[in-house]
Amino acid sequence: MRTRVKLGVAVAAGLLLAGGQAMAKEYKVGVLLPFSGVYAGLGSHIENGFKLGLEHYGADLGENSVTIVRSDTEAKPAASLAKAKKMVLQDKVDVLMGVVSSAVLGGMRDFVHNSGTPLIVANAGNDHMTGEKCSPNIIRVSFSNSQINRPVGTWLANQGVKSAYLMAPDYAAGHQMMEAFKSTFTAAGGKIVGEAYPPLKGTKDYGPYITAAKAAQPDAIYTFFAGGAAITFVKQYHDFGVKKDIPLYGAGFLTSAAYVHVQGEAADGTVAALHYVPAIDTPENKKFQDAYQAAHGKTGSEFAVAGYDAAHLIVQAIKQADGDEEAFKAALSKVQFNGPRGPLRIDPATNNVVQNIYLFKNEFKDGKVVQTILDTIPDVQDAPNGCSM
Ligand code: PHB
Repeated sequence: MRTRVKLGVAVAAGLLLAGGQAMAKEYKVGVLLPFSGVYAGLGSHIENGFKLGLEHYGADLGENSVTIVRSDTEAKPAASLAKAKKMVLQDKVDVLMGVVSSAVLGGMRDFVHNSGTPLIVANAGNDHMTGEKCSPNIIRVSFSNSQINRPVGTWLANQGVKSAYLMAPDYAAGHQMMEAFKSTFTAAGGKIVGEAYPPLKGTKDYGPYITAAKAAQPDAIYTFFAGGAAITFVKQYHDFGVKKDIPLYGAGFLTSAAYVHVQGEAADGTVAALHYVPAIDTPENKKFQDAYQAAHGKTGSEFAVAGYDAAHLIVQAIKQADGDEEAFKAALSKVQFNGPRGPLRIDPATNNVVQNIYLFKNEFKDGKVVQTILDTIPDVQDAPNGCSM
């Protein structure tokens, strides 16, 4: 499917404007997101945010224009790689945008690295892609898995939590997030008393895992689940009645604004960390939330914000490049601005985003979940972790 986004007037590529000015250019963006499979809902949030970002920031592109080509990754690495190849080689996109799963990002890394076509990652947190497997072509506007979870280990230990049980899906993101939490929690004196990694796809019953966690008698359980798995896990943890003895913590996708209303009372009391929470009180966030809610009738989530900021980043680079392909690519990793999540910049050492991480709690009040920010860890930046550009 191809969507023409009306942003300025497109003229034939290659046309040199009078007076030797830069050429007008049609920028083709290849949107690669899961619209089916385990992370289906997340893809539509990112796409909605991306389109809103183009509307808000791309209105004054002058002679340049943006066109979207979209494809369903199904959150499957092999299918996603084939679709990325088609977009680059056949559709000749100027830039790829999207990717939700760390496994999908890992699977397309070498192709993107060698293709010369930049990829703006709008979710997948795979640490290696901005670490030892970093690439000038991979620019991440969302988060890295360790960036979100590292600050929580220290924070939780400082709250007096002495032991934790870990649980996350059995794939790259699940393991990386738990490892990051573990490293700072144990460095601050905390103890890991057990861990479990249920399959990402097809786990319907977390009962046996929750029973094992309870038997280990930790002070807290620390988790990462997202999408449908997060809804199921949070509901089952609530139904098992364990939360009063073992409070539930996690990477904040666990109770994302995308689906916390579905979890409802089951989310009550859960404390989590994320790079974006709708409660952020800034003019940029208000503008985003007002427009997103007017367009879609629901709260804009961290997924929608990543799409929105990806559009902002691409538009800024288009403006700076003034029609020049190489200048466009170079500008993508030099962008910085205040978005709905707060200040954001791309780290030139890794191409990962530098941003605040917010600790927040969920409370079920008057029939709905209220999310309140407890703490802000400013300007969280990853070490290069083996990245040399
Ligand atoms: C990932 O696979 O990197 C991933 C997926 C879903 C999330 C966060 C990270 O919500």
